[in-house]
Amino acid sequence: MDIAVIGSNMVDLITYTNQLPKAGETLEAPDFAIGCGGKGANQAVAAAKMGGSVMMVSKVGDDLFAPNTVVNLQQQGVDTRFVTTAPGTSSGVAPIFVDDESQNRILIIKGANQQLKPADIDAAADALKSCQLIILQLEIPLETVYYAIDFARQHDIKVILNPAPAVADLNIDYACKCDFFMPNETELEILTGMPVTTDEEVKLAGQSLLKRGLKNLIITLGGRGSLWMSGDSVHQVAPTAVKAVDTSGAGDAFIGCFAHELVKSGDIPAAMAQASAYAACSVTGRGTQRSYPDAETFQRFLNVH
Ligand code: RIB
Repeated sequence: MDIAVIGSNMVDLITYTNQLPKAGETLEAPDFAIGCGGKGANQAVAAAKMGGSVMMVSKVGDDLFAPNTVVNLQQQGVDTRFVTTAPGTSSGVAPIFVDDESQNRILIIKGANQQLKPADIDAAADALKSCQLIILQLEIPLETVYYAIDFARQHDIKVILNPAPAVADLNIDYACKCDFFMPNETELEILTGMPVTTDEEVKLAGQSLLKRGLKNLIITLGGRGSLWMSGDSVHQVAPTAVKAVDTSGAGDAFIGCFAHELVKSGDIPAAMAQASAYAACSVTGRGTQRSYPDAETFQRFLNVH
């Protein structure tokens, strides 16, 4: 295996609407779709669809959603030997609201993802040791994330930490042990308490984190592209212009594709450029994983963009 994702899976319940109800009000929404999601699973699927050899360490509930989650991961080419059931729990679910501007608002109910523990990393240790890269997010317990980072350091495996959803009490010392720290602008704002409206503000907020000892900070900025900051150097990748219909899961598409390209070439700017285009391609379709192209479809997209 090249890449391991130690993280979440969720069932995405996506409502397409411009208006959310007030207290006591019932509103009709025009459209709805159900799909496989979760930041961890999305990143695993994006990397696998691009041709990566990917395994997941994850927990599903013991409900009717679980078998479908596992089968979906397998169909997308993800190794599920270490996706196990947490008895007596529901699977993670994510009600998502997407408006006409293609912007998303996401609620998560972590369910079984809360039961992913350090012991699950120990159980997968032999398989994990063969990986070049581990990807982590924050939809599982923080103690498991920290344990995974220490495991990776001990075995000389590279780590990407995507601090999503952002938690203000994230221990930055652990972020500093990672090779890549990859927030979006909203997460950067929560983590630093600094404004991120303009590119200059983003850079100042980024510098405040770098000063605390981060190695590589890659900030995804949605329609404004992405930014890699390390030491004193700043590298900006312009966005690929597309007509977005649903931005849900675009950040995960970026990270999954970036991870695959990084393992392949080790070239960070090239990996960012591919990841940026891959995320752009994903926002032209509805849903999260469902909108991720495979390598062939992505190549066709690149030919015309
Ligand atoms: O990043 C998008 C993802 O966030 C969705 O798939 C949802 O499940 C939540 O985890």
